[in-house]
Amino acid sequence: MTQKPKVVLGVGGGIAAYKACEILRRLTETGHDVTVVPTEAALKFVGAATFEALSGNPVRTGVFQDVPQVAHVKIGQTADLVIIAPATADLMARAAQGRADDLLTGTLLTARCPVLMAPAMHTEMWDHPATQDNVALLRSRGTIVMEPASGRLTGKDTGKGRLPDPVEIADLGRLLLTRPDALPRDLEGLKVTISAGGTREPLDPVRFLGNRSSGKQGYALARLAAQRGAEVTLIAANTEALPDPAGVEIRRVGTAIELRDAVHKSAEGADVVVMAAAVADFRPVDLADHKIKKTDDGPPVITLTTNPDILAELVRKRTAGELNTRLIVGFAAETGDPHHDFLDHARAKLRRKGCDLLVVNQVGTDKVFGLDDNGGWLLSSDGTETELPLGTKAVLAANVLDRIAGQFSGQVGNL
Ligand code: CTP
Repeated sequence: MTQKPKVVLGVGGGIAAYKACEILRRLTETGHDVTVVPTEAALKFVGAATFEALSGNPVRTGVFQDVPQVAHVKIGQTADLVIIAPATADLMARAAQGRADDLLTGTLLTARCPVLMAPAMHTEMWDHPATQDNVALLRSRGTIVMEPASGRLTGKDTGKGRLPDPVEIADLGRLLLTRPDALPRDLEGLKVTISAGGTREPLDPVRFLGNRSSGKQGYALARLAAQRGAEVTLIAANTEALPDPAGVEIRRVGTAIELRDAVHKSAEGADVVVMAAAVADFRPVDLADHKIKKTDDGPPVITLTTNPDILAELVRKRTAGELNTRLIVGFAAETGDPHHDFLDHARAKLRRKGCDLLVVNQVGTDKVFGLDDNGGWLLSSDGTETELPLGTKAVLAANVLDRIAGQFSGQVGNL
């Protein structure tokens, strides 16, 4: 049996400490050996017994506990990943200064593995130059400090500073275990628009024509692009089941026409547009304003009309000089047929749509839709074809973003 990856979950003293329990549960359920290292202040919010029961490991906070084991050195040295959630302003300040006044900061000094910090604090504390300087310093040393989420804070106030969703933190942690280099700040200064999910075309107030796209791949791209420093707008079609990616502006849409309007608007200022959404090719000509009933005349005939091809429209606009987007990326879900391999179809699609990059997934009833793993090919209009190895949707997103970042730095990315 292979050894479980060792994860240290550091918990700072903020109200969001209770959410660390959810991160812990997700990590243990997905096969990680987690040691929780709270600060003394964190234990005012969640008791050590909760962390011990959920992790199956003892919980200590100080350097004078478990002295014969030299815990403050050993825990960090043997870790494969450290996640700090919530990372409070005080904890990040102490980490930036290299303090070692408790077990968690001591662990941070001895760890040589990826460190992921998920901040949570009030907006004013996050925006304060002291905190921003500490974040910049930590990032310059290779610590991955996530962008906080926006929304409801402890009291009635809202703003930037919420802890990113626990699912998102656990996902990024798992990504760093397979790809420690997956989150460089190489997209800073870029505006990226990403569409995700599947459009729904209503037939009547209760029925629609839809597709099986879950939106997970587009969300993974948006999440990673934001954490790599891009200013991301996510146009999300029917993705209510997914947690909002932190640091991303979300516009929700339902139909292909709504998606089209939102994408065109957002593309105007964007350097990159990624069309990961599954757009319905057709919509009913008529939308019944009441539920369509069974009648003795047999089933209704539904007449469809073709939806605009948004990706092709973006390319046409750019060719006409009406759009400055430098990189337009499409997705293609293909199956082979008796005459053509799925890649032949994809090459033809790249030519037909005229986009710069096409991410190709091979699909079938048992492949890709709703699953957590994805693989395929990245086809470029310059003729290069790169295999995207099978991995989680986050790994695929990291590989695609490496290529996008490479296009902007004039280098080929990490593929
Ligand atoms: N797309 C789009 N507008 C549409 C349909 C698709 O912008 N009306 C985009 C998708 O977001 C994706 C790419 O085009 O990036 C390819 O989608 P796909 O459904 O595979 O392409 P189709 O043109 O519908 O081709 P097919 O004939 O295989 O259905």
